[in-house]
Amino acid sequence: MDKNELFNLKNKTAIITGGANGIGKACCEMLADFGANVVVSDYNYVAAKKTASEIEKNGKNAFAIKCDNTKDEDLVNLVNETISKFGSIEILVNNVGGGGAGKESPYDIEVSQFKKVFEMNVFSTWRLCQLVAPHMKKSGYGSIVNMSSMASINKSPAISAYASSKAAINHMSRNLAFDFGSDNIRINVVGPGATRTHALSTVLTPEIENAMLKHTPIKRLGEAEDIAGAVLYFASPISNWVSGQVIFVNGGGEQTLDM
Ligand SMILES: NC(=O)c1ccc[n+]([C@@H]2O[C@H](COP(=O)([O-])OP(=O)(O)OC[C@H]3O[C@@H](n4cnc5c(N)ncnc54)[C@H](O)[C@@H]3O)[C@@H](O)[C@H]2O)c1
Repeated sequence: MDKNELFNLKNKTAIITGGANGIGKACCEMLADFGANVVVSDYNYVAAKKTASEIEKNGKNAFAIKCDNTKDEDLVNLVNETISKFGSIEILVNNVGGGGAGKESPYDIEVSQFKKVFEMNVFSTWRLCQLVAPHMKKSGYGSIVNMSSMASINKSPAISAYASSKAAINHMSRNLAFDFGSDNIRINVVGPGATRTHALSTVLTPEIENAMLKHTPIKRLGEAEDIAGAVLYFASPISNWVSGQVIFVNGGGEQTLDM
C-alpha cells in the first residue's frame, strides 16, 4: 500500500459517540485532521455543536447530532441522519460510557443501577455495531473502535458494575470480530488508563494522582489525545489486518482509585 494512504481517512465518515467532550472530542479532532467526515454525537447537543463548529473552522468536515446512547430511537436516528448527511459510514467510535467509579459497593447499589451501567456501556455499544455494520459492508471499509478501560482488567473496590461492563466490551468485541470479519469490518478496543477529562476530575485528588503515578512508568496521567492516537491507528488502513484486539493506553502502568 502507498505509504501516504496508511493514515488517510479522506472520503470516510466516522461517528464518534460522546464526541462533544473529553476523549470523544479528541477522537473527533484527530480523525478529522486525517481527513474523515466526523459526526459528533452526544446527548449534550449544545456542546456537540460547539465541537463540530471548532473542527469546521479548521477547514474539516463535522456535523453534530443529538443522541442519547441509552435510547434506541436515538441510535437509529444517528445512523439514518449520518447516511442522509454524508452518504456512508466507514468508522464508528463507541466512546460513550460511564459508571460509578468507586461508588458501586454491592452493599449500597440496587440491581437497577447495575443494569443502567450495562445499558449504557454494553447494550448501546452492541446495538450501534449492529446498526452500522450493513452500511460498512456496503461501503467495503469498516472499522469499529469500542472504548473500554483499564478497569476491565484491574481489580478495585466498589467498581464491579463499571469494571465488568468494560470487560464485557473487550470480549464482546473479540467475538463480533468473527461475525463481521468476512464483511471486511474490523472491530477493536482501546482501554484507557487514567486520562485527564471532566469524568476523571470528579474523582481525582492530589493524593490519588500521586498514588497512580507510583505505578505509572511514564510519569504523567494520560491526555485525551493519547487515547485518540490509538483510535486513529485502529480506524486507519494501516491496521487493515488487525481485528478483535484490545490495546491499553496507560503510560505502561496502571492507575486505580484505591491508594
Ligand atoms: N477519563 C478516563 O480516565 C477514562 C479511563 C478509562 C476509560 N474511560 C472511558 O472513556 C470514555 C470517555 O470518557 P471521558 O473521560 O472522555 O468522559 P467525559 O465525561 O469527559 O465525556 C463524556 C462525553 O459523553 C457524553 N455522554 C455521556 N453520557 C452520554 C449518553 N448516554 N449519550 C450520549 N452522550 C453521552 C457527555 O455529554 C460527554 O460529552 C468512557 O467510555 C469512559 O468509560 C475514561
